[in-house]
Amino acid sequence: MVRVVFLIAFLILAIRCSKEKQTSHEDAYAEPHRPQIHFSPPENWMNDPNGMVFHKGVYHLYYQYYPDSTVWGPMHWGHATTSDLIHWQNHPIALYPDSLGYIFSGSAVVDENNTSGFGKEGKIPLVAIFTHHNAKAEKESPTTVENQSIAFSLDDGYTWTKYSGNPVLKNPGIRDFRDPKVFWFEGGKKWIMTLAASDQIIFYSSPDLKTWTKESEFGKEFGAHGGVWECPDLFPLQYKGETIWVLIVNINPGGPNGGSAAQYFTGQFDGKTFTPYQTDTRWADYGPDDYAGVTWSNTGARKIFFGWMSNWQYANVVPTVKWRSASTLPRDLTLEKIGDRYLLCSLPVGEIEKIAGTPVVLENLSGNDLDLTKKIGILIGPARVQIASDTIETFSLTLSNKGGEKIVIGYDKGQNSYFIDRSKAGNVTFTNGFGVRHTAPRLSYDQRLVLDIVIDDASVELFGDNGLSVMTSIFFVSEPFTDAQIESAELKIKSLTYTPLSSIWK
Ligand code: FRU
Repeated sequence: MVRVVFLIAFLILAIRCSKEKQTSHEDAYAEPHRPQIHFSPPENWMNDPNGMVFHKGVYHLYYQYYPDSTVWGPMHWGHATTSDLIHWQNHPIALYPDSLGYIFSGSAVVDENNTSGFGKEGKIPLVAIFTHHNAKAEKESPTTVENQSIAFSLDDGYTWTKYSGNPVLKNPGIRDFRDPKVFWFEGGKKWIMTLAASDQIIFYSSPDLKTWTKESEFGKEFGAHGGVWECPDLFPLQYKGETIWVLIVNINPGGPNGGSAAQYFTGQFDGKTFTPYQTDTRWADYGPDDYAGVTWSNTGARKIFFGWMSNWQYANVVPTVKWRSASTLPRDLTLEKIGDRYLLCSLPVGEIEKIAGTPVVLENLSGNDLDLTKKIGILIGPARVQIASDTIETFSLTLSNKGGEKIVIGYDKGQNSYFIDRSKAGNVTFTNGFGVRHTAPRLSYDQRLVLDIVIDDASVELFGDNGLSVMTSIFFVSEPFTDAQIESAELKIKSLTYTPLSSIWK
């Protein structure tokens, strides 16, 4: 009897505690401007996604993190996981700065064959490869500040031990020498590191992740060079049975709409050299707020791209109080061939369906002023809007609130470009040049329009033509948008699907 009473008392306590935990979790993600369907750290500063690796059914995300402030500082690797790419769990800090420096961006791999020798008692090691940035040496010796180091985990990514032989790749005298992204090149049975080195990429190879040999350089004469090359990624994608290699190179500043952005190259990689197909400059996302994006390791043929939803132009001063910055939605990458060009496409991962509510489908809409609110009702929270038309004409979709703040998203036929105008989207005065209209070229020649737009409390992501032209833009309105309006003299909308998305934090 006493036992039963104890058991009941214990159960009541456990239920209470779990409820309290839930409540505090919700509170933590309910501040003004807090993204409801995107990852953001519970508090303090975040920038690049790091060490993204899929292992035992779990997608790990480490990220540039400064736990003592809401502005950039000595970098750690924060840690979160997701099993569905949508709902996130926060974990303790994975890597702390040490005598070799701050822990800058990098990647992580599953060392299945224990090439590193870190595996013990049959445990498969995860190995993180990152840049040690020695801020103390910055003044006297700026060209030796950044070196590459490694750490390993024998508990599937939750705790890490730094290698005693760090750094494993010393700086050859290049000021910006960082952000290693490593993958296993089966063709040559070796690891390949893609490293950003100032204004180019240097490829290195290794049998064991500890000793690295230079293979080649790429990029001095290719692509955009308005800023420093950072956070690269190299991976193969299949296109109708062909293997095409994609090289992503983030650059800051020098993006198509100013500041930070991710350019990419397509070509071939033979284990030593990357040979590009293209001479033109292309962007994985033309908007102002998708930076340092790279893909998850160990996902097989599927490549999932994930970026930091901000821009170094203003990341440190955006008007959020408890934390700063969020990530973009995870996006599936594919290729499309237009003429003889292979173009990168990205779309929100299909897993987003998990938070989709009942869609409202409107068909055959036309007329100059289309008041969607009348048809859909007042907007509540995050949503996805998908628009299809048999012709492509100038149009705009305006989301607004009672205070008259608005964001305008659309297509301009004269310019053949998509746009997002955040000039009236709430607080734009915290930095110069934030409140402007950004554009992205339309790359498709299709006569039909297919548009996919995902709206969160503080961001809009636009995917034109099945992800050929992509734009991400953040904004800071004082109250959520409630109304939606389409304006177009000519556009005949075949279908418009409005899908409410539920918060991932509740
Ligand atoms: C990109 C970046 C990386 C660097 C990290 C520092 O945003 O500048 O090149 O490793 O951020 O936090």
